[in-house]
Amino acid sequence: MTQDELKKAVGRAAIAHVVEGGIVGVGTGSTANFFIDALAEFRHRIRGAVASSEATRKRLEGHGIEVFDLNDVDQIPVYVDGADEINAAMQMIKGGGGALTREKIVAAVAGKFVCIADASKLVPVLGRFPLPVEVIPMALGHVQRELSRIGGSPRLRANFVTDNGNLIVDVHGLEIVDAVALETRLNQIVGVVTNGLFACRPADVCLLATGAGVQMLTAT
Ligand code: A5P
Repeated sequence: MTQDELKKAVGRAAIAHVVEGGIVGVGTGSTANFFIDALAEFRHRIRGAVASSEATRKRLEGHGIEVFDLNDVDQIPVYVDGADEINAAMQMIKGGGGALTREKIVAAVAGKFVCIADASKLVPVLGRFPLPVEVIPMALGHVQRELSRIGGSPRLRANFVTDNGNLIVDVHGLEIVDAVALETRLNQIVGVVTNGLFACRPADVCLLATGAGVQMLTAT
């Protein structure tokens, strides 16, 4: 199976986790796009969706799915999103598409986080994928110096502005052994809006697409 076929399979498998009559939180990225396309067939059985990015909002609306402002919604039973890396504890690196802040906000509201990924995303230790950090533009220099002190090699993502009008710094060379501690530490750097570690609020379930089918993983 190609990687796209795996992503499509896992996007479809996530439909089984959508709560009928409820609002579904929807992530961003190529795997999430396959989920959105599968959700289109299910759209009459949900109330609507909350989007984690402008790209996702447009794709949902293009399929005739109503998109709610998060502040108009009390409950999101399930949030479905991809990941750049996920470990056995269901901790993730996200933000390869630059939508990490809105993804983290929607995930924080959701009752259940369903991560959808192909098998290449499952790793023993997080950090080979550069860790995205969203930064307020005027704080760029300060944040990059602080990230270097922590031991990473920060690189400004070229020609990229987030949906929130901010910059992304990708931090290379981290071997993340204690993801909760690093997520918490990075949040203390003034000028950082969000970092792409999803460890304080990990996924509840990972649907992992392999050549042998979609497996359901929980934290070990
Ligand atoms: C978007 O900002 C990211 O968090 C994505 O969820 C992540 O990069 C996974 O994307 P793909 O499904 O395209 O690999």
